[in-house]
Amino acid sequence: MTPAQPTPRTLLPLTPVGGAARRHGSRSFATCHYRCGSACDMPVPNTTGNGHVQDEIAKVVGRRRVLQGAALVGAAGAFGGLVASPVAAAEGGGAAAARAAAAARTTQDLGTTPFRPVAPNTVDAVRTAPGFTHDVVIRWGDAVLRGAPKFDARNQSPAAAERQFGYNCDYVGLIPTTGDKALLVVNHEYTNEELMFPADTYTDDEIKLISMRNHGMSVVTVKRGLVPGSWRQVKNLRRAPQNRRIHIETAFALTGPAAGDDRLKTSADPSGRRVFGTLNNCAGSTTPWGTVLSGEENFNQYFDGVPDPSLATEYARYGIAGGEGRGWSGVDPRFGLGNEPNEPHRFGWVVEVDPTDPTSTPMKHTMLGRFKHEGADVVIARSGQAVAYMGDDERGDYLYKFVSSGTFTPGTGRRAKRANMRLLTEGTLYVARLTGDGTGDGEYDGTGAWIPLCTDTESFVEGMTVAEVLVFTRLAADAVGPTRMDRPEDVEHNPVNGKVYAALTNNTQRGTRFPVDEANPVSGNRNGYVLELTPARGNHAVARFTWNLLLVCGDPASAETYFGGFPKDDVSPISCPDNVTFDDRGNLWVSTDGNALGSNDGIFRVPVEGPERGKVQQFLTVPRGSEACGPLIADGNRSLFFAVQHPGEDDGSTFETPFSTWPHTNDFPRPSVCVAFQAR
Ligand code: FEO
Ligand code: CA
Ligand code: CA
Repeated sequence: MTPAQPTPRTLLPLTPVGGAARRHGSRSFATCHYRCGSACDMPVPNTTGNGHVQDEIAKVVGRRRVLQGAALVGAAGAFGGLVASPVAAAEGGGAAAARAAAAARTTQDLGTTPFRPVAPNTVDAVRTAPGFTHDVVIRWGDAVLRGAPKFDARNQSPAAAERQFGYNCDYVGLIPTTGDKALLVVNHEYTNEELMFPADTYTDDEIKLISMRNHGMSVVTVKRGLVPGSWRQVKNLRRAPQNRRIHIETAFALTGPAAGDDRLKTSADPSGRRVFGTLNNCAGSTTPWGTVLSGEENFNQYFDGVPDPSLATEYARYGIAGGEGRGWSGVDPRFGLGNEPNEPHRFGWVVEVDPTDPTSTPMKHTMLGRFKHEGADVVIARSGQAVAYMGDDERGDYLYKFVSSGTFTPGTGRRAKRANMRLLTEGTLYVARLTGDGTGDGEYDGTGAWIPLCTDTESFVEGMTVAEVLVFTRLAADAVGPTRMDRPEDVEHNPVNGKVYAALTNNTQRGTRFPVDEANPVSGNRNGYVLELTPARGNHAVARFTWNLLLVCGDPASAETYFGGFPKDDVSPISCPDNVTFDDRGNLWVSTDGNALGSNDGIFRVPVEGPERGKVQQFLTVPRGSEACGPLIADGNRSLFFAVQHPGEDDGSTFETPFSTWPHTNDFPRPSVCVAFQAR
C-alpha cells in the first residue's frame, strides 16, 4: 500500500465508567475495549427472566454418584502419548490407551509430580513452580509462511501480517504429524492497536488492514526439543509445508441447515454459503478425528455504522450496536451495517479446520448455533454420536450441547476423517436448564436437562424455523427457559472420569440484574466458578445430568469460597477461571483471565477425584497485563503448552510506554505461545 500521510493512532476512546478504577475481575478499561468492545457498558443482551424459576421448584434428587463405565480412558494416543487418539478420546475406549499413557510417563509427569505452588505476584515474567521451566515457542510476528519478512514492528504491512504469527494467541492445539513433529494450532483472538503500533508511523487504514490480518488462526510446525517436554518451532519453513495462516481473507464454507439461508446472503455472496474470515477466535478443541474447532466469540464489535431497524431485536440480543466499531468499514465496506446488514450473521459460529491439509477450506458449522462461542469440545458418546459442549460467553447467557445424528467412524485414514468431518452438520442442538436441590445439604448442586432447540430438519421453538433457530440461537433459547449463567467459557469433558467441566468466569451483576440461584450462588460474583456436570448413566448423548459446583473461586480466606471440599488453608487463591483442560490422569487444569485478587493471571492444577479433590495449586503465573490461555497437556504429561495473551494490556499502556515488555526480546510486548516442562 502507499500510505498517504502517517497519522497518529486515532483509536477508540477508553471511557471509564462510574469512576471505577477497574472493571469485572481486575480487568482494565483497555481490556474491555479491545477484547469485547466494552460489552459491559452495553445493555445486557439477555433481558429474559430465565434462570431462577427452576430453583423455586427445586426437587431433592439423588446424590452425585461415581460415573459408571467411563473409567480410565487415557489420553495418550498412537503418537507416543502426544495427544488423545480418536479411540482414546471416545467413551469406554481406553485400557490400551491407558497402558500406553502409563508407559509414556516419566518422572516429568505433570499429572503426578508434586510441586510447590507459585505465590501470587505481579512480576513481568512467566513464573513456573520450582523445578519447572518454560520456553517461548513462537511470538507475535514470527515467520509462519515462507517469504515472511523478519518482524519489524516499525515496518509492518498487511502482506507481511498474512505470513506472520498473529496477535493475541488464545487456544492452543497440537496435532501429531510424523516423527518428533507436530502441528501447533493457535487462535488469534483480537488485537491491541495501542501496543502493536508506534505512534505517528501508520495511517489509520494501515492499522486497520494490518490488525484485520492479525486476527484468525495459525498452524505452525513444531518439533520436540532436546530436554524432555520441551518443543520448538521448525524455523526452516521449507520443512514446514503444512504451516498456514488463516485470516480475514481466508474463505470459509458454511455448512449445515442454515447454509444458503437468506439471512446469510450478502451482495458479495448471494449464495449465503461462503464467508471470508473468522473473528475473535477464543477457545477451541481438537476433535477425536484430528481437526480443530474454534469459537467465534465477541464478533459483534467489528461492525460499525447504522443498524438496520428491521433487525433491531436480533442485533440487540447479540450486542451489535454499530456506531464507530473498529471503523473497519473504511477499508472493507462489508463491516458497515448500512452496507451489509447480514454480514454479522456470518460470524458467531464454531469453525472447523483440518490443520493437516493447508489447502482445505475451513468450515463454519451452522448446526452448532450462533452465539458468542467460547469454543466447542467434542466427545464420542458410547452410541458413537459426536457430542459437542459449548458456552456462550456473556453475562447471563447459556450452556449448549450438540448431539450428532451420525456416528463416529474409527480410524485415522482420509476416508474416516472425511466422514467424521460431516458429523457436526446434522443432529440436535440443546440448551441447558439447571435445577437446584436446595442448599440445606451444604452443597451447590442439583439436576439438569438439555432442552432441544432444533434438529437439522425440525424446530422445537414455536414461531421459528430451523434456520432462524440456528442464526438467532440466543433468541430461540430464550423461549425455552434455560438457566442464565455467569459467563460460560470453556466447557470440556474429562476423558478419565467422564464428567464435564465448565468455567463460569464472573458476573458482577449477579444478585442485581440476575437473581442469585443455586448454580450461581455468589452475589456480585467477581471470582467465578467451575461447574461439574455428570451425564445421566454416564452417557453424553442423553438429555439429563446432575451438576455441582466444584469450585467457588476467590481468596480461600473468604467465606464464600469452596474447593471441592478440600481444606481451604492448603489451596492457592484462584480468580476468573476461563479455559479448562485435563492431563492423562484426569486432573483438571485451569487458566484464568482477570484475576480479581491483585495477582497476575495463571494456570492451576486441580485433582477432581480422590483425597486431593479440589486441591487447587498454582502451577505458573503469566506476565503483567496478560491472561493465560489455551492450556494443553501433551506428550505423555511432560509438556504444558499455554498462550500468553495481551501482555502489557492496561489503561495508559502504549507501544512507547508499555506496562510489559515480555518476552523481553523487544522494547514492547509480544503475545506468545510457551511450553512448560520439568527443568533438567
Ligand atoms: Fe475470549 Fe470468553 O474469552
Ligand atoms: Ca444443594
Ligand atoms: Ca476465553
